[in-house]
Amino acid sequence: MRDAVSGLRVNAERFRNNFESLASVGATPGGGVHRPTFSQAHFQARQWFIEQAERAGLEARVDGAGNHSARLQCGLPGSRTLLLGSHLDSVPYGGRFDGALGVLCALEVLQTVKETGLSLAVDLEAVDLTDEEGTYGNFLGSRGLAGKLRAEDLENPSGGQEAFENALALAGLSRSGLLSAGRDPNSIAGYLEVHVEQGPRLAQAGADIGIVTDIVSTCRYRLKFIGRADHSGTTPMENRRDASQGASAFALAARETVLQTFKDCVVNVGNMRFEPGAFNVVPAAVHVSLEFRSLDRQQLQRLERSLFRQAREQAERFQLALQVERLKATAPTPMSSEVQQVIKEAAELLGLRSLSLPSGAGHDAQSFADLCPTGMLFVPSVGGYSHSSQEFTRWHDCVNGANVLLHATLKMSGVMRAVL
Ligand code: GLV
Ligand code: MN
Ligand code: MN
Repeated sequence: MRDAVSGLRVNAERFRNNFESLASVGATPGGGVHRPTFSQAHFQARQWFIEQAERAGLEARVDGAGNHSARLQCGLPGSRTLLLGSHLDSVPYGGRFDGALGVLCALEVLQTVKETGLSLAVDLEAVDLTDEEGTYGNFLGSRGLAGKLRAEDLENPSGGQEAFENALALAGLSRSGLLSAGRDPNSIAGYLEVHVEQGPRLAQAGADIGIVTDIVSTCRYRLKFIGRADHSGTTPMENRRDASQGASAFALAARETVLQTFKDCVVNVGNMRFEPGAFNVVPAAVHVSLEFRSLDRQQLQRLERSLFRQAREQAERFQLALQVERLKATAPTPMSSEVQQVIKEAAELLGLRSLSLPSGAGHDAQSFADLCPTGMLFVPSVGGYSHSSQEFTRWHDCVNGANVLLHATLKMSGVMRAVL
């Protein structure tokens, strides 16, 4: 019996067909997908997932936060639920693996367990969580499900209130639904997620599987450098109060600061929006999206002080005003050490080489980590590409990820009875 369970593997052919079929939803000419949250392509991908769940004889559900689930009742009545999750939304013009792979691995694990007729100590749920990428607000679905969303978290959505309201209406959701989607924490046995690494470390180390130790803290700010609109042809250079100069000088200074003094941190100026934005107008204002990340809270506090000092200095240098808006930061989040051990044992059982590493990307797992035993495993990303249509993971690595998830799930679930 034990050997039969150890020998279990997912159905790689079905898994691949599902992967190809899902990747065609919102496909871009570059080979990636464009599925921003609540876009038509995103709705279509979620519909596809529900159809697969129903076809497989799983119970399909959608909750008040729009999370789409496939459930397998394989525990005794009243059992808690082990969540296997990720997301089907993408960044604009993103890759086909980020998020989608985790949802497909979860679906494949449920189908495999169902087919083998295993009874576990828990029920299983594959869940596609809403808006992981933050089109409107990062981790809306997982924070909703974890009971962590507050009304103030919905006050300042990315893209603005009107766009958010329209999108919620299109999705058939409401603010009150999002805020009341929290489940009883006692009903959740744990959370597991497979994801592509989105960086080069596994490949560099020759490892098959990454065991995530911690997820970084992400701090985000909106800065606005404010100058004065003037004619670009007639205003002498020395008289200009050009907002683009302050914003650009700040972006360069931020990079140098991190490279020289904060080696464990990363910084990104991800967007600059010029007002009014024309060839022949000196920019009156530049809106800057600033993000920095690290595992170390103290480093982040020091980096924040240093960056804002430089933003003020550059604003002064070009005679600009500066406005700073702080958005909600995520905390550095350790993964459960017991779950890390379970993933390590599952990889060993499959003869795979694993490497423990932190995640520089944010993930839905961080919404669950203080609620239940939570863990993540990575599979290698070729060339480290991600958030790009170049994102690629070799197929055998995807299958490894699904099989490690299967065995980690069985270990966490406590196999009680197998009818193999
Ligand atoms: C999610 O992909 C993030 O780290 O921003
Ligand atoms: Mn992503
Ligand atoms: Mn992701």
